[in-house]
Amino acid sequence: SFMNEISEFRVLESQIKDKLQLEHVIIVSGNSDTQPSVKQDMGKACVQFLISILTSNQTIAVTGGTSMAEVANQMKPLEHAANCTFVPARGGLGEQVENQANTICAQMAKKANGNYRMLYVPDPLSEETYHSIIEEPAIKDILEMIQDTKIVLHSIGDAFTMAKRRKASEQVLNKLRSGKAVSEAFGYYLDEQGEVVYKVRTVGMQLEELEHAQYVIAVAGGSSKAKAIQSYFKQGKSNVLITDEAAANELLKGL
Ligand code: F6P
Repeated sequence: SFMNEISEFRVLESQIKDKLQLEHVIIVSGNSDTQPSVKQDMGKACVQFLISILTSNQTIAVTGGTSMAEVANQMKPLEHAANCTFVPARGGLGEQVENQANTICAQMAKKANGNYRMLYVPDPLSEETYHSIIEEPAIKDILEMIQDTKIVLHSIGDAFTMAKRRKASEQVLNKLRSGKAVSEAFGYYLDEQGEVVYKVRTVGMQLEELEHAQYVIAVAGGSSKAKAIQSYFKQGKSNVLITDEAAANELLKGL
């Protein structure tokens, strides 16, 4: 069963935990690059972990992408934690509707019997619009909720995979190339050392603000993401990693 599979990886989990300096690591069997059921298992593990930490009246910030969409698919009623609210961590990041944080929030809330709030911001934002939009009362309100959230669920992507998926301009691609971007999370592109190379201009959670959260849970697997995971954790802003066997093995090779 699913729980038995998890316990197979105790040793691997503690190795990754030590190397990346994390509080919790959960590894599921397989490689999500090639087996779709592995992404489902990461989603289930994430929901299980969430259930184990969640109390009533909490806000949970979430990002977009297919890994988060799978967490939403696997979400269950949060019976022990009443009145929780899902909010998108950041505004639009160039994802298709089904993989946008707003959509994922609404689906999570529906399945969890919780509430959700949305961030309606155009994507991408001009400098001018950015400054006026953050002064809008309705936007300000939700941005405060995002800043106060103690639980964050997010994924990590390979920098160039994400830039292409978002149809980044040649100008942005050049910045990523010259900065040797390796990973992407929350709209931030990071190099091998975890330094920010480029940041998508949108509202919401800033990387520095993650320090105020109690649980920052990354869900990312597949051997193709190992380098990205390693780069992201050089920033050290998340304390929980839910990944798969293939990414974990690849990570240990590179560490
Ligand atoms: O675009 C939102 C996002 O969470 C990115 O920050 C991340 O790199 C990506 O999605 C992960 O996508 P996927 O789970 O589809 O690999």
